[in-house]
Amino acid sequence: MEKIIIDGGVKLKGEVPVSGAKNAALPIMAASILSPGQSSIANIPQLRDITTMGDLLTRLGIGFQAEGGRVSLNTENISSVEAQYDLVRTMRASVLVLGPLLARMGEAIISLPGGCAIGARPINLHVMGLNKMGAEITLSEGYIKVRAKRLKGANIYFDIPTVTGTENIMMAAALADGVTVIENAACEPEVVDLADALISMGAEIQGAGTNVIKIKGKDSLRPLDYKIIPDRIEAGTFVVAAGITRGEVRIKDCNSGHMDAVIDKLSQAGVKIDQEKDALTVKGPDMLKPVDIRTTPYPGFPTDMQAQFMALMAVSHGTSLITENIFENRFMHVAEMRRMGADIKVEGATATVRGGKALKGAPVMATDLRASASLVLAGLAAEGTTVIDRVYHLDRGYQRIEEKLKPLGAKITRVK
Ligand code: EPZ
Repeated sequence: MEKIIIDGGVKLKGEVPVSGAKNAALPIMAASILSPGQSSIANIPQLRDITTMGDLLTRLGIGFQAEGGRVSLNTENISSVEAQYDLVRTMRASVLVLGPLLARMGEAIISLPGGCAIGARPINLHVMGLNKMGAEITLSEGYIKVRAKRLKGANIYFDIPTVTGTENIMMAAALADGVTVIENAACEPEVVDLADALISMGAEIQGAGTNVIKIKGKDSLRPLDYKIIPDRIEAGTFVVAAGITRGEVRIKDCNSGHMDAVIDKLSQAGVKIDQEKDALTVKGPDMLKPVDIRTTPYPGFPTDMQAQFMALMAVSHGTSLITENIFENRFMHVAEMRRMGADIKVEGATATVRGGKALKGAPVMATDLRASASLVLAGLAAEGTTVIDRVYHLDRGYQRIEEKLKPLGAKITRVK
């Protein structure tokens, strides 16, 4: 098991590039299933989740190659329609092949994802939408089987704005017969990026980025040749890294227009942020101020930044309330931060963070992707040495984070 060791207390200085967005890459790789031929996607981050999606597509008979930041996919022949449990349980985003496989092949067999560290994360809304489009759904031995000769356009209302649910239905609707309207759709930039990728394949989609998306199905689509957006969560993580270490960092190759809520809350905390379209120059203050946040669907404060923001509040001067409204169990980083001396009390969906004392380095354990990022941030700010175990969680969403932090002066190493 690899570990990351950090000697904290260094003010980060310098420039750091942001990679492509994991949560745009995953649905757009799945979208290649919709059209037989040779597809190519650029600005793909080199992450464990991308490799896992590549393995899944390969098992479907798709030729998958990743060279640097570009993946190529040969989707001429799909020889299987099954996403097996061993892959699905390591990455829930495997569910994103459900819609495209059903639309292209007329059937799909997907292992039920099972729970994950941050919550039950059911896919009932994905299934409800496909069922409304005419799919026959059967559930047996932990697998969902969906079948439809040809999907029909339908009006679908989500009682929760599910990100991958919106993406699955959008992909299925792109080849359906007729018009599909998704109401209470997710508005995340990654949903918009998928819509743009589908439109580049010949799909007819309006309203992506709003709560109502209209898709007019086509008989066929072209293969895609597309470049994905930067990762707003990785970018936000680096903004916090500069803020929590009182550093001065320029974060480049990002899309600051996707980060309004994060920029607003970090500015309220006293972090100086000079915003350009594709870069942020960040200066951490000597005194951080406490700020309350509530996570909500985009354009609100993203749940994927909640743990990182909590690390910042743990060293701010005062008390802040952090309310997690999206997932029922996304406070696993709290117990680990307490080991570093953080004063945090959790009651239901709200954590009360009493900042003001310096954090102390300690051995801690990563529990899920974004929690592990928050422990890196806490380690950068803490006095002494922090050892983070189970860093495979970190590698799911951050491209060798220590290689990006070292040039900024961080004393961080990865050991076996
Ligand atoms: C996406 O997950 C992201 N993953 C998550 O990022 C992100 O945290 C989440 O959206 C929220 O923004 C990808 O895009 C691959 P949801 P997703 O469906 O689509 C409930 C990361 O760190 N729900 O929007 O699975 C669900 O339980 C990951 O990169 C249902 O009840 O999230 C949750 O409480 C973690 N039934 C809420 O909706 C359903 O059918 C939002 O979930 C679907 C969802």
